[in-house]
Amino acid sequence: MSEKIKWGILSTGHISGRFVEALKLISEAEITAVASRDEVTAKNFAEKHGIPKAHGSYEALAEDPDVDVVYIGTPHTFHLENSVLCMRAGKSVLCEKALTINAREAEEMIAVAKEENVFLMEAMITRHVPLMKKVQNWVKSGRIGEVRMLQASRCARREFEPSARHLNPELGGGSLLDVGVYVISFASMIFGKAPESVFGFGHIGDYGSDEQGVALLKYDKGEIANLSFALRTNGVNEAYIYGTEGHIKIHEIFAVPTKATLVIGKKEIEVIEEPIFVGGLVNEAEEVMRCMKAGLKESPFMPLEESLQIMRIMDEIRAPWGLKYSNDRST
Ligand SMILES: NC(=O)c1ccc[n+]([C@@H]2O[C@H](COP(=O)([O-])OP(=O)(O)OC[C@H]3O[C@@H](n4cnc5c(N)ncnc54)[C@H](OP(=O)(O)O)[C@@H]3O)[C@@H](O)[C@H]2O)c1
Repeated sequence: MSEKIKWGILSTGHISGRFVEALKLISEAEITAVASRDEVTAKNFAEKHGIPKAHGSYEALAEDPDVDVVYIGTPHTFHLENSVLCMRAGKSVLCEKALTINAREAEEMIAVAKEENVFLMEAMITRHVPLMKKVQNWVKSGRIGEVRMLQASRCARREFEPSARHLNPELGGGSLLDVGVYVISFASMIFGKAPESVFGFGHIGDYGSDEQGVALLKYDKGEIANLSFALRTNGVNEAYIYGTEGHIKIHEIFAVPTKATLVIGKKEIEVIEEPIFVGGLVNEAEEVMRCMKAGLKESPFMPLEESLQIMRIMDEIRAPWGLKYSNDRST
């Protein structure tokens, strides 16, 4: 592999543009190509961002020899198809969250990565943000005693736009996959194990997608995660980790945090603040490149087995809701 890692961008939507901004801040990253379903769209994106090659199909990007790793920024229902396309062509893949729409798809995606011996990671920014690593150090070094509970909330108010993916079940829209994944992944990271029981309520709104939900996860030693997520409700975006001796508050927006407070008993002991760049996407891209340079096929900070476990939890949460995405074949 050359000194620089060559990135291809698959799709030209909101987050792909942000990801390109992030890559531009990393000296060892080179953006060699972008692909869209439409050639003109690809050309416009390439021109706007100064990307040398524009492909009018995702297939052409997958086959491009000047690409080492592909960033997948499509709606959830296409993550499997797009990632498999690139991995089968020998490319490494950073796929946006949620990894897929269900665990069956995640299993398939991970199996292809293993068969092709390529790097694959779910783009869960929270895992790579420096402040979150410091919070994890507080937890691991026992600053709040034994961790017993956590609370996390990721909420936003979005208006329905028929062409947008957010509330469109045909595109894997809805609060669980879009923002619920952050709180579930957070619980998974802090407790470091799979829950033994899972329960959730969800409200399916007028557009056929889950507009808001709550989930409770219970772990083997009685630990509990109390999680909320919403796309039509102006709730908070904070997280709290409760231990036997104190608690940690991760301030807005906890999924891309810049501030955390350590409280022992009722006393505020320490506050840490740490800036992030381009919404944490710089740290995430750097992790992909670090792993690729080290010859790793997955990141220790977002292991594939854990991404799969998170998809299993989401399947279990929504099973009683009767919610099905367009390419949902889980039964
Ligand atoms: N990490 C983060 O902070 C973050 C933030 C927002 C979103 N996300 C994730 O990123 C992914 C994309 O979100 P986004 O908000 O960027 O979506 P978006 O703005 O709607 O862009 C999605 C892109 O996917 C492509 N696409 C392929 N098939 C499509 C179809 N049938 N309908 C619509 N678009 C289609 C389109 O690109 P072409 O027309 O060029 O093919 C489109 O521009 C999701 O998985 C989301 O959860 C992550």
